[in-house]
Amino acid sequence: MIKIAVMGYGTIGSGVVKVIETNQESIQKKTGEGIEVKYILDVRDFEGDPIQSKVVHDYQVIAKDPEVDIVVETMGGVEPAYTFVKAMLLAGKSVTTSNKALVAVYGADLTAAAKEHNVNFMFEASVGGGIPIIRALNSCLTADRIEEITGIVNGTTNYMLTKMSEDGCEFDEVLKEAQDKGYAEKDPTADIEGQDAGRKIAILTSLIAGQQVDYEDVHTEGITHISATDIQYAKQMGRAVKLLASCVQAGDTYTVMVAPFLLPNEHPLYSVNGVFNAVFVRGNMLGDAMFYGSGAGSLPTASAVAADVIELAKHIGRHIELEWKPQKLELADYKQQSMRFFVRAAQEKEEIEQAFGSVDYVETPAHKKGKEIGFITREMKEAEYEEKAAKLSSIIQMIRFR
Ligand code: HSE
Repeated sequence: MIKIAVMGYGTIGSGVVKVIETNQESIQKKTGEGIEVKYILDVRDFEGDPIQSKVVHDYQVIAKDPEVDIVVETMGGVEPAYTFVKAMLLAGKSVTTSNKALVAVYGADLTAAAKEHNVNFMFEASVGGGIPIIRALNSCLTADRIEEITGIVNGTTNYMLTKMSEDGCEFDEVLKEAQDKGYAEKDPTADIEGQDAGRKIAILTSLIAGQQVDYEDVHTEGITHISATDIQYAKQMGRAVKLLASCVQAGDTYTVMVAPFLLPNEHPLYSVNGVFNAVFVRGNMLGDAMFYGSGAGSLPTASAVAADVIELAKHIGRHIELEWKPQKLELADYKQQSMRFFVRAAQEKEEIEQAFGSVDYVETPAHKKGKEIGFITREMKEAEYEEKAAKLSSIIQMIRFR
């Protein structure tokens, strides 16, 4: 039996134990040996629960037990997760984590520690929940130069934008409903302000660049300013508003950003609705590929963690090479990226055309009431857009085209 420990018995940790117990037989066929959960680290005791006898409160009990080969970290947050995970790697145990906050900050450091101690550090569930995107990038698409990764990697905001589009309701209304249904956290800031997606695209970019991308360097906008009127305009244009986390090759580096975009209906991400996630990848040899599935939730996320456990079990005593240098990658200036911009302004057509030249107007009920004008610019760099937009005094909204 391969003995493992689970640190953090919350939604995902308990899901991992369930996946391993439920699929024990098929897991045994894949690893050659069964997998047994020896310890569960948690601050709670879980009195009366079948796992009560496995509960420990001191992570050193796990670190010091030579029987434990693999440790699962599903606590969340940077500390104490980092201290615990590092201690496990230094003690010669392989680790898998679902914790994007930890991976975004310490991914390079923990990868180096794993190499030094001839063990492995895996983090499949940290991006895209149950979707196998990290392994795809690390093991399957390695012959390609990845030119673009564009993902819908936050289920909460995708649910909210889908609902706004289906029901025509405003942001605040749909946020409340998402919170009532448990799709959005009580404090939804990290999701609705785009920070969660920012961490995830920083991790994916680090992997294709082979070096550290700091999530603080990623230009990040959320969806709090998106209104029912914007969605009406989007429909009029045959487009959908989606929060995209995107990384596009720019010479030796990448332009990385998170923001709401207007997607045309022929784009593969257009039909990704509700809590689902999807990651679109373009390789210089592969062309286009898309990975789609459940991006959050106990069992989908636990399934990705358990798959890492199986992979780690197959590689006990052997480090799998992964390039993630700690040197920080300087990202390209997102304002140098060219695209078209959709703009709403309470302005006369002559003023708009003086600022932007010829534009395409978009008519909706709001437009027809004469209160505002919606228009699409020609393609230009964002820096140029900003210069031109500064000439107009009453821009209500700007959403980028993809
Ligand atoms: N808050 C995240 C989401 C959870 O909504 O996608 C999964 O990382």
